Amino acid sequence: MNVAIVGASGAVGQEFLRILAERDFPIDNLVLFGSERSAGSKYTFKGKEYEVKLLQHNDDFKDIDVAFTSAGGGTSKEFAETITKYGAVMIDNSSAFRMCDDVPLVVPECNAEDALNRPRNIIANPNCTTIMMVVVLKPLEALSHIKRIHIASYQSASGAGAAAMAELQQEYEEIIEGKPVTVKKFPHQLAYNVIPQIDVFTDNGYTKEEMKMFNETRKIMHSDVRCSAMCVRVSSLRSHSESVWIETEKPISVEEAQKAIAAAPGCTLKDDPANLVYPMPLETAGKDDVYVGRVRKDIADDCGLTFWLSGDQIRKGAALNAVQIAEYLYKVGNLK
Ligand SMILES: NC(=O)c1ccc[n+]([C@@H]2O[C@H](COP(=O)([O-])OP(=O)(O)OC[C@H]3O[C@@H](n4cnc5c(N)ncnc54)[C@H](OP(=O)(O)O)[C@@H]3O)[C@@H](O)[C@H]2O)c1
Repeated sequence: MNVAIVGASGAVGQEFLRILAERDFPIDNLVLFGSERSAGSKYTFKGKEYEVKLLQHNDDFKDIDVAFTSAGGGTSKEFAETITKYGAVMIDNSSAFRMCDDVPLVVPECNAEDALNRPRNIIANPNCTTIMMVVVLKPLEALSHIKRIHIASYQSASGAGAAAMAELQQEYEEIIEGKPVTVKKFPHQLAYNVIPQIDVFTDNGYTKEEMKMFNETRKIMHSDVRCSAMCVRVSSLRSHSESVWIETEKPISVEEAQKAIAAAPGCTLKDDPANLVYPMPLETAGKDDVYVGRVRKDIADDCGLTFWLSGDQIRKGAALNAVQIAEYLYKVGNLK
């Protein structure tokens, strides 16, 4: 297959290079794209050097089968037509098309088949925090319908991109050296802090990130579930974590839930509190699965269950999920 990565220099773009190599994705030709900032720079893939091309409105995507795009919503909207007009499937990591009726929103463990119906040849990769939550909700929904979700997220600096990750490290260095702290990518200093805001606020007091969790969860799970989220930036560098409370139609026991999660694709159960075993971002960074622990009954709700999860949002929350979608399409013979 001929594969393009748009936004190759970014946090997600770099992860695409690693994951495509690790999984030995069947690539004949690879083309990397970026803006003027990274055009001309070189990256190595499977021992060969590739130069980043400037993304332009031309015929560069004529022979491309799959384009992984992670260059922000504005770029995705501006270049969608250029990327897809000759039949390339665009698997987009931005929020530009996620809630469009004619664009499937796909997490392969939940709704892989939705990717087959894509009138615009665009498939949207969901919000990273949502992806990791629905991978765990899927096996629980099979036990009893989930009516309500409350979630508090603990999102790492890298969720805001490569420059944000560097800013957090720089903030710590500046504090140690007694210099003024640089704050550009986050609304406040993140070092030694937590910030209860991710993305901008909407009219109902929730942020856009929180409303993504409400809307995208329903679309992916084909469900009427209502999800109330509080998304918080913390000073871990990589891997998001989430405290999740669910209310189901019928009660689910802890044992049933643990068994279902342990057997579910994409999930690893790490739940042994007596031995201080539960997932944490330092350990889940760089891993593929979503790790789950602290599974217990919600003592405030007879039909409630609560758990903790942690997973690498640049992998499963972005690049890995997109590659899994492409692998699924390849497996079922659904690429041009
Ligand atoms: N980081 C995460 O955990 C995460 C998770 C899920 C989804 N996402 C989404 O994935 C996308 C990328 O995120 P990121 O974290 O990788 O950001 P990032 O580290 O800031 O990288 C942004 C990338 O976009 C490229 N780009 C920007 N404007 C461009 C343009 N006009 N033409 C071509 N390329 C352009 C940049 O290339 P230059 O360097 O050449 O400008 C860079 O490669 C965003 O939409 C983000 O919301 C991110």
